[in-house]
Amino acid sequence: MTYLGIDLGTSGLRALLIDEKGDAIGSAVRQYTASHPNLGWSEQDPSAWIAALEDAVLELRAAFPQFQDIKGIGVAGHMHGATLVDEKGAVLRPCILWNDTRSSAQAARLDQTKNVREMSGNIVFAGFTAPKLEWVRAHEPDTFAKVHKVLLPAAYLNHYLSGEYVSDMSDSAGTSWLDVAARDWSDYLLDVSHMRKDQMPRLVEGAGAAGQLRPELAVRWGLKDTVSIAGGAGDNAAAACGIGAMNEGQGFISLGTSGVLMAARDGCNPAPETAVHTFCHAVPDRWYQMGVMLSATDSLNWLGRVTGRSPSALTGALGTTLAPPSKVRFLPYLSGERTPHNDVHIRGSLTGLDVNTGPKEMAAAVIEGVSFGLRDSLEALKATDAKLDRIVAIGGGTASQYWVELLATVLDLPIGLPGGGEFGAALGAARLGQVASGGACVEDVMTAPEIRQTIVPNLAMRDQYDDAYAAFKAAYPAIKSIQ
Ligand code: XUL
Repeated sequence: MTYLGIDLGTSGLRALLIDEKGDAIGSAVRQYTASHPNLGWSEQDPSAWIAALEDAVLELRAAFPQFQDIKGIGVAGHMHGATLVDEKGAVLRPCILWNDTRSSAQAARLDQTKNVREMSGNIVFAGFTAPKLEWVRAHEPDTFAKVHKVLLPAAYLNHYLSGEYVSDMSDSAGTSWLDVAARDWSDYLLDVSHMRKDQMPRLVEGAGAAGQLRPELAVRWGLKDTVSIAGGAGDNAAAACGIGAMNEGQGFISLGTSGVLMAARDGCNPAPETAVHTFCHAVPDRWYQMGVMLSATDSLNWLGRVTGRSPSALTGALGTTLAPPSKVRFLPYLSGERTPHNDVHIRGSLTGLDVNTGPKEMAAAVIEGVSFGLRDSLEALKATDAKLDRIVAIGGGTASQYWVELLATVLDLPIGLPGGGEFGAALGAARLGQVASGGACVEDVMTAPEIRQTIVPNLAMRDQYDDAYAAFKAAYPAIKSIQ
C-alpha cells in the first residue's frame, strides 16, 4: 500500500509518494505563478493547480511502480484563498490568494462587527476569505450572484479528485465563517458577510475520509484499488502533522516567505486581541495557535535584490559565531504585518545606518529584525497560555545556522533541526491520506522526525538580545505614526 501527499503551495505543487512505514518513495514538483493585476492583488488560475497535479502524477507514475498501489490521498493547501465556482463547478474568476490585500476595508468592517471575533476566534485579517467575498459582492456583483460554492484551494483539489464539495476543519478555520470552537459553519458569521451555508463545502476532519478518487481518474492514473481522499489540511496544520506537533508543548517555527510560530493546543483558547491565529488542527479535538509574520525570508530576498547578492551569500558572510546585536535596526514590515500589529498598510524601515554600513551589517540587521518579529509572535502566544518547550525549525531560512542560533537566543528556546528525509506539509498530507484510508491511526503516524542537531540559546548573548528586542519594540510607534 502507498499514499500520496499533495502540497499545493503558493509558488508550486509538490506530490510525495510514501510507503506504509511513512518513508518517502519519491516526489515530483511543478511550479506556477501568481498574477498581480493591481497593487496589493494576488491571484492564481486554479487550472494551473490541476495541470501541475496531472503533470506531477505523470512523473511519479513513470518513475515508481508503487504508484499503482495508492490507497489514500491527502491535500495540503495554501490557506484563505477564494475559489468561486458556479452550479456546474466551473471557476468564475481567478482565485484571490491569502497574500492579497485588496479587501482590507471589508476585513476591518467585518472585524468590528459584533461577536465576529468571539465566534470565529480570530481577527478578520485582510487575507482571510470572508472579506474577499465582500469585495466581490461590492465590485463584481454579477460574479457574486453566480457563486454556488466557495472553495479553499485544497477543497478545490478535493473536488477535482473526488467530485465532492468537501473541506477540512483546519483550512476552513481561516475563512472567518467557521465557529472554531464548535468546528462547524456559523450561520451568524455567514450571515454578516452575506453568504449562505449551502455555499459552503461539507466539513470533515482532516484525517477523516472526504470521499473516493473519481473512477475516471483512478483508471487514467492506472491505480489498482479504490482510493480514499482525506479531508486534508491548511498548509500549517499539515506541516504540524509532518513534524508530529499534535500536543501541548509541541510546535514549529517556519522560516519561509512568511514566518510562522506554531503551537499545538489540546483545547480552543482564542485570544484575537493578541493577533495570534486560533485554528482547528487537522485531527479531531485538537487546535493550534500561531503567530504569522508576512515577510520572513522575503525580507532577506529584498535585501538580496537591493545588494545584488544571494540570500545565502548574505547570511554566509555573517560566519558561524553569533555576534552582539546590530546597531542597524530593521523593522520587517515590507508587506504589512499580521501578528502582532494586524496592519496591511504599515511598511518596513532600516535605521541607524552610518558610512561603514555595508551588505554584511544590513544582513545582520535584517535577520535580527525578522527574529524580533517572531519574538513578538512568541510573546503573543504566551499571552494565550501556549507553552512551547522546544520547537522544530523548518523552511528555507533554516539553512543558515547563524540565523537559527540567533532565533534560539532571541526566543530563549532550544530549536531542533530535522535530519534528512521528509517532514513538511506534503508528508503531513500523505499521513492524513493514510489515516483516512484506514491504513493507520493518528497516534502511530503523526510522529516527530529525527533531529540532526539541537541549537540552544547563546546564554552569553541573551541579555543583550533582550535589550535589543525592547529597543525594536520601542521603534514601532514611530513607524506607525508615519503611515
Ligand atoms: C496562514 C497563511 C499562510 C498561507 C500560505 O494564515 O496565510 O501560511 O497558508 O502559506
